Amino acid sequence: MHWLDCQQTIPKLEGMSDQASNHTMASMEPEIQSIVHRIKSGKAKRIVVLTGAGISTGAGIPDFRSPNTGLYDKLAPLRLPYPEAIFHINYFSHTPEPFYAIARARHPGNLKPTVTHAFLALLAKKNLLHFLFTRNIDGLEQDAGVPTEKVLWAHGNWKSQHCYKCKSPYPDDLMNKAIRTGEVPYCLETGCRGAVKPNVVFFGQALPAEFDEKEKEVLEADLMIVMGTSLRVAPCSRLPGLVKKGIPRVLINNEKAGDLGNRDEDVCILGSCDDGVRQLADALGWREDLTDLWNEAVAAKKDDETFEGGTSLDECIEKLVNGMKDKMKVSDGHKRMLENHLNNKFEQMIAKGPAP
Ligand code: OAD
Repeated sequence: MHWLDCQQTIPKLEGMSDQASNHTMASMEPEIQSIVHRIKSGKAKRIVVLTGAGISTGAGIPDFRSPNTGLYDKLAPLRLPYPEAIFHINYFSHTPEPFYAIARARHPGNLKPTVTHAFLALLAKKNLLHFLFTRNIDGLEQDAGVPTEKVLWAHGNWKSQHCYKCKSPYPDDLMNKAIRTGEVPYCLETGCRGAVKPNVVFFGQALPAEFDEKEKEVLEADLMIVMGTSLRVAPCSRLPGLVKKGIPRVLINNEKAGDLGNRDEDVCILGSCDDGVRQLADALGWREDLTDLWNEAVAAKKDDETFEGGTSLDECIEKLVNGMKDKMKVSDGHKRMLENHLNNKFEQMIAKGPAP
C-alpha cells in the first residue's frame, strides 16, 4: 500500500543534463520527429501517460507550486503551518474551513477540458493509450472522453464524498452547495457532526488499492509521456523511473521535472502542455482529429447551474482572510477576558496562601 506523505515531497532537482535544460519548443524538432516516427511506425503503441495540475491550468484551475500563480504561494496570507496542511488529513480533521474556502476554485464545476485533455482522449481513440495515471481530481480527462478503465485517479476525485468521522455517504446536491458557498458540510447522521470530505486522497491517507497493481503498467510502456507535473510528490513521481531503459520518456511541461532529460532517449518539450500537444498532433498529422474531438468534448460538457459564475482563487482566499480577521477580533477579546480571569484567580490564590 502507498501512502501520501507530504514529508516526502521531493525538492526540485538541480543538475539536470544540459540536453534537457537547453531545449525549448523551437529547438525540439529532431527529438519530436523521433517520437513521431516511433508512433507512426507502430513502435509505440502502449503509451503510458502521467499528468498533473499543469494540464488543467489552461482550463482555469491553478496548479500548486508555480511561483505566484500556484495555490501554495497564494495561501501565504492564511499562515497555515505549511502550505500542504490544507490537504493534510490531520489538519482537515480539526480545521476543514480552509479546504472548503478554496474548494470552489479547485472544483471543475462548469470548466471545460483543454486541448491537452482532448489529446489524451485522442490517444485512447487511436488505441495508443495503454494507461493514464493522473493526480488531478478534476475529472476533465473523463469529460474529454478518456475511457474510465484506462485511468487511475491516483488522488481520487470529486465525484463522491463521505463523513470524515463515521464514513456515512453525503448527498451530491448538498455537497455541491457546500462547494459553491465555501461552507463546511457536516454529517447528517444524528450525533455525529463530522466534517464531510470528498473522496480525494489527502496527505496522510492511502492511495487507491489499485495503484500497486496499475504501476506495473509502466513496465509495459513503449513510450511514456509526463505532462504538467513538478514530480515533487511520491509515489507518482517515481513512475517515470520505472520505465525500462531504452524506452523514450517525453516531458511536456513549463519547467524541468524529476530526472526527465537525464537518459539519452528522453525528450523534454519545455513550454505549455497545450502548445506541446498541438505541436505533436501537427507532426503526427492529427491536428484535425484533435480539434474535432476537443470541440465535441467542450460542447458535450453540460453546464450545471449550481456552478454558474465562477469564483477565482484570489476571491476565495480574500474572503477567508477577511473572515479570519473578524474571528481574530472575537478571539482577542476572549483572550483578554481569559487573561483577566486567570490573573484574578491567581491573585486570589496568592492571597489565600498555601493549602493546609
Ligand atoms: P505542481 O503544482 O506541483 O506542478 C505543476 C507543474 O506543471 C509545474 O512544473 C508547472 O511549471 C507546470 N505547469 C503549470 N501550468 C502549465 C501549463 N499550462 N503547461 C505546462 N506546464 C505547466 O502540481 P502536481 O505535480 O500535479 O496533492 O502536484 C502533485 C500533488 O501535489 C497534487 O496532486 C497535490 C499537491 O500537493 C495533494 O493535494 C494531496
